[in-house]
Amino acid sequence: MFSVAAQHARVLSGMRPTGRLHLGHYHGVLKNWIELQHEYECFFFVADWHALTTHYDDPTIIADNVWDMVIDWLAAGVNPGEARCFIQSRVPEHAELHLLLSMITPLSWLERVPTFKDQQEKLKERDLSTYGFLGYPLLQSADILIYRAGLVPVGEDQVAHVELTREIARRFNHIYGREPGFEDKARAAMKKMGKKAAKLYARYRTAWQEQGNQESLKAARALLKEQKNLTLADRDRLFGYLEGGGKVILPEPRPLLTRAPKMPGLDGQKMSKSYHNTIPLRADPAEVEKALRTMPTDTRRVRRTDPGDPARCPVWQFHEIYSDEKTREWVIEGCTSAGIGCLECKQPIIDAVLAELQPIQERAREYQEQPDLVRNILAEGSEAAREVARDTLDEVRHAMALDYR
Ligand code: TRP
Ligand code: SF4
Repeated sequence: MFSVAAQHARVLSGMRPTGRLHLGHYHGVLKNWIELQHEYECFFFVADWHALTTHYDDPTIIADNVWDMVIDWLAAGVNPGEARCFIQSRVPEHAELHLLLSMITPLSWLERVPTFKDQQEKLKERDLSTYGFLGYPLLQSADILIYRAGLVPVGEDQVAHVELTREIARRFNHIYGREPGFEDKARAAMKKMGKKAAKLYARYRTAWQEQGNQESLKAARALLKEQKNLTLADRDRLFGYLEGGGKVILPEPRPLLTRAPKMPGLDGQKMSKSYHNTIPLRADPAEVEKALRTMPTDTRRVRRTDPGDPARCPVWQFHEIYSDEKTREWVIEGCTSAGIGCLECKQPIIDAVLAELQPIQERAREYQEQPDLVRNILAEGSEAAREVARDTLDEVRHAMALDYR
């Protein structure tokens, strides 16, 4: 049995199986995951069913992409001893929850998710007028809610999906959280906290419900998290009672926006496979060096003697990520006075990128040589994830009166 405090400290994120990853993934996502895994109980998964929502006619690409991507996760430092790494389709509970949630999801909620129309426009060559494609944000909601995750690290483009998840959770709790005798049960649960805590809880609850005092709501939640004598069910009831609703069966997750600076590609646009401007994590060092040496600079700096402007140069964006204050001053001074050449300016970047990639590539080689190890990590992770998912699904089935025999 896990506590509510642990639920809120649970982090879940997924990635579509896109194959080998590049520095954009590393700086934008993986470094963040690696930090989170020390602080929270983390679940990171390969969203292979999500790949089918757009690439249903091309399923053979999935398998290789999964192994390649997970090797890069591990090589970058995702630690299976700390974080659970698993594959979505190995945890079929996601699908059952998706089905059950679909019963209460208004069509209009899905139709107004911004990615729905955007992606249909963008991927014109594919026929995306399918049920699976419309429903994929709901599948994502199921991915999150099945672990009762509190935090979901995502990029800007995915925030709308976490918002949808919050609305679905709220609706679910509203419809199914009203067990018979809820008020009596909530009051009995209050008594189990002890006199002092119960009194405080009651005071905060009144202040929240009658005056809308946010601080009181926060304080009451914190108080509930501290309680050691409550069962999970009782605590959920008191979370629900606090806000005037029923029992909180599926807690609302929050998006955790990645603060990382946007990793520029070799041409200064965002690094992305579709722009052909990436540095893959497993790129050959000689190729990395060549790519950086030949990358464009301030176009107005034609000759070595022409002064340049870092603000107009993609190389500068790399300095913003990789260089310290002193090096950056050296760049600004040297560039604007034509005191340094562009190759000279690129050298600290080349050194920094190669140094960053070196240990990643070494670990990638080790995992590549042990495919069974990678498969075992995912098998174990999937089993561990299933255990948590089953617990949630048991409660959901009970709430929806599906546990009759
Ligand atoms: N939809 C996400 C993407 O395209 C991947 C994803 C699927 C995900 N399920 C998730 C991300 C759950 C966070 C949480 O990038
Ligand atoms: Fe860009 Fe550096 Fe050349 Fe200036 S000196 S144009 S910042 S590469």
